[in-house]
Amino acid sequence: MKKENILILKGTIIFTPDSAGFEVRQDSYLVVHNGIISEIYKQLPAEYAGCRIIDHGNRLIIPGFVDLHTHAAQFNQRGLGLDLELLDWLNEYTFKEEAKFTDTGYAAQVYEAFTEELIRQGTTRAVLFATIHKDSSNLLCDILSRRGLGAYVGKVNMDVNCPDFLREDTQQSLRDTEEFFERWSSTSLVNPIITPRFAPTSTGELLAGLGKLAVKYNAPVQSHLSENPGEVKWVAELFPDQSDYHQVYNHYGLFGQTPTLMAHCIYLTQEAIECIKSNQVVTVHCPDSNINLASGIMPVRKLLNAAVQVGLGSDVGAGHSLSMTQAMVKAIQLSKINYVFDHQCDPLTLSEVFYMATKGGGKFFGRVGSFEKGYSFDALVIEDNTEMAQKASPVERLQRYIYALDASNIVARYIAGQEIQSRI
Ligand code: GUN
Ligand code: FE
Repeated sequence: MKKENILILKGTIIFTPDSAGFEVRQDSYLVVHNGIISEIYKQLPAEYAGCRIIDHGNRLIIPGFVDLHTHAAQFNQRGLGLDLELLDWLNEYTFKEEAKFTDTGYAAQVYEAFTEELIRQGTTRAVLFATIHKDSSNLLCDILSRRGLGAYVGKVNMDVNCPDFLREDTQQSLRDTEEFFERWSSTSLVNPIITPRFAPTSTGELLAGLGKLAVKYNAPVQSHLSENPGEVKWVAELFPDQSDYHQVYNHYGLFGQTPTLMAHCIYLTQEAIECIKSNQVVTVHCPDSNINLASGIMPVRKLLNAAVQVGLGSDVGAGHSLSMTQAMVKAIQLSKINYVFDHQCDPLTLSEVFYMATKGGGKFFGRVGSFEKGYSFDALVIEDNTEMAQKASPVERLQRYIYALDASNIVARYIAGQEIQSRI
């Protein structure tokens, strides 16, 4: 191994090999070969003599955060119209905002600012919705690639039950999606994902076409599922042949036939939970969004007990922040409110939500989100230079960072072994 391909960081290393607890390696050396984690050592072996060591002293080194569900195009919309519920919020704010992305100049402005904030917040991998617009979606991929982020990006598909200014012709929608896939399928860190907005804005013809594309490109899929009672009722009216909301996606090969993410998953029948489990669909908890739109509380503990995978998402703009530490805190808080009403469901623990925001979510990207051998080196270095940091244990310092400190405490960010710069 050439020395220039070796990266060594020293500090207090914390990660979650599983959701039950933290692995802590105090004052240790994390050795990275070609962007991939090789080993963590207390004493550095002689073979690394002469390699450059970045000594972070007492700082915490943790995996970068994985945001499994957010809308890059809704970045300017954060905080707006949040006194509404989902369907009114879509009609009165979101569709109007997304229509602006016909203008690539506007898209460039929003997507640059979005990407900057993603980096600032310590998100190293994200799964994104763009809009229906192919050119703007390409632009988002260009910006993410240029900044070195890891992402799946969806050109959104919608061909019914939406305003004329955002409705696609079905065949054109499929052609644009295929073009988008041709352009981004074989790139390294930024890749395309099949993205029907949700069942109500999709015809069966569109979903069937997207299911075929998912197979053709062996592509992952993302959408929204069972977020709001009005939405669930509407889906039952629109798709009377399907017995349940999730069956609309399943029927068209968009429910685990290839790796699939479903955001929200609040109002699930027992059959839906079983299908999610057997099809290995990954569910995404978006606490801020669920609070803001008064959508409900996702049954996270019940899903975990059923061995369903759960990740975390910021869901901007229904969520008002890209902070994954705040998503972790809100997930715990919601689980505690839920616990007050249902003592059968234990609240989530910090290691469980940390796992969701790192290794759990990272699985969607491959070997991402942990510091075990063979994992991509995606990491954050946290400076919590307070008196408290001198006296506290590493896990207490992590607790304090997640709850009470913020992005300004992140002093370095790495994605696939490359250092990423925040400009702020
Ligand atoms: N369901 C369909 N579209 C959307 C969206 O943009 N945001 C959220 N939260 N839910 C949706
Ligand atoms: Fe969403």
